[in-house]
Amino acid sequence: MAQGENQRQAFQFYGRRKGRPLRKGRQSLFDELLPRITVPLNAGVTLDPATLFTPRKRAVWLEIGFGGGEHLAHQAAANPEIGFIGCEVFESGIASGLSHIADKKLENVRIHPEDARVLIAALQPRSLDRVFLLFPDPWPKRRHEQRRFVTRGNLDRLAELLRDGGELRIASDDPTYVEWTLRHAPIHPAFQWLAESPGDWLERPADAIETRYETKAREAGRVPHFFRFRRLPR
Ligand SMILES: C[S@@+](CC[C@H](N)C(=O)[O-])C[C@H]1O[C@@H](n2cnc3c(N)ncnc32)[C@H](O)[C@@H]1O
Repeated sequence: MAQGENQRQAFQFYGRRKGRPLRKGRQSLFDELLPRITVPLNAGVTLDPATLFTPRKRAVWLEIGFGGGEHLAHQAAANPEIGFIGCEVFESGIASGLSHIADKKLENVRIHPEDARVLIAALQPRSLDRVFLLFPDPWPKRRHEQRRFVTRGNLDRLAELLRDGGELRIASDDPTYVEWTLRHAPIHPAFQWLAESPGDWLERPADAIETRYETKAREAGRVPHFFRFRRLPR
């Protein structure tokens, strides 16, 4: 049984979500480019993500739920010496991410086109240098709290995967999720909140770009908040 199958059984799996049929060009990226850059996961085998890149990269950064992939592609183009893994479950998002990768001719991006939790369960501890969780689905209703990505369990796992001094970035425009993040991440013993001044959580990190999702949130009057946490030395 593939490792992904074990993980699917271990928790409620949010599988690949299909929307409208993909346009022809995107479908061919899906059929041809995606298999070449999909992260291979094998039953019971822990994956060192550094081995996905030849020649080896200086560091590996992970983006969870990359949406349309603009931020992932921007970071990958700006940091060719870094290896990137992007996770996304929504088919049109994956296709959009692939078109950015193809347009920018990026060689340093690998894709996990399924639930990010399947991937993070399989990665080798101390193998990541940065993790982005940007505008995760808010699940604002109380009865859906357990679906939020920021949980003690997921934070524990990300703390294992990050190297000492590594960075976890979380953004949200949802007031419930902002409060939820504040109740979980800053009190986690492995993470230090890198807030420098009272208002700095309102400013997007200088090396990031505004995604379509963030633009829409601002247009709708919601206020994006940006958190940066450092993985403390063990
Ligand atoms: C609100 S969107 C934000 C997209 C993107 N980060 C941005 O800022 O534009 C959240 C995304 O996370 C994806 N997602 C949610 N849960 C996920 C999971 N467990 N694994 C991978 N992707 C996930 C959704 O499909 C969706 O595209």
